[in-house]
Amino acid sequence: MDVNEVLRSRRSIKNYLATPVSREKLEELVDLARLSPSGANKNSWRFVVITQRDTLECLSQTHPNCKWLSSAQAGIAIIIDPTSTRYWLEDCSVAAYSIWLAATAQGLGAAWAAMYLSDNPAETERRQQFVREALFIPGNFLVPMVLAISYPESLPPTKPRPGLKEVICWNRYTLGETEKPKI
Ligand SMILES: Cc1cc2nc3c(=O)[nH]c(=O)nc-3n(C[C@H](O)[C@H](O)[C@H](O)COP(=O)(O)O)c2cc1C
Repeated sequence: MDVNEVLRSRRSIKNYLATPVSREKLEELVDLARLSPSGANKNSWRFVVITQRDTLECLSQTHPNCKWLSSAQAGIAIIIDPTSTRYWLEDCSVAAYSIWLAATAQGLGAAWAAMYLSDNPAETERRQQFVREALFIPGNFLVPMVLAISYPESLPPTKPRPGLKEVICWNRYTLGETEKPKI
């Protein structure tokens, strides 16, 4: 698969085959993620690979939108010390997408469990404590996301996306001009 195909076929995969994902495959995903760009090349992210069923089951209870973690073969928690770089959230997000795309290219599927909500500090703190405890992560780390990794049972259809004309403009902002009332 070339990169365009990977970008077109990537989906959130929440239904999984029972086929195990080998340690080598999981290690390869992290090996590729570690090549991700990071602000000032700080490379501050770290990765906790989860294969134990009871730990996946526990993580699936972090919040109602990550129940599918319980049936995944593996998970990857991306962790970072936010004092290590001002770009911690961006760096982790880039690394997460690297893993998602690499997984897709290898016929695996991934789904993203959000553990950090910028508009809800109390819920973020609750999720952070829950995940830190489940994975024995020291308190100086944040865990912005956990990815489920498994072979997909099926490929869901593409979700709606805006058309190119709705998101692009050239040289100056002209989006929305057609929506303005004509006078
Ligand atoms: C920052 C971010 C947070 C997300 N958090 C969750 C989540 O907590 N639970 C979930 O089921 N999906 C989550 N998703 C998946 C999105 O809902 C999904 O990518 C989007 O609906 C588009 O669907 P697709 O991935 O199949 O293209 C998240 C995705 C991103 C990029």
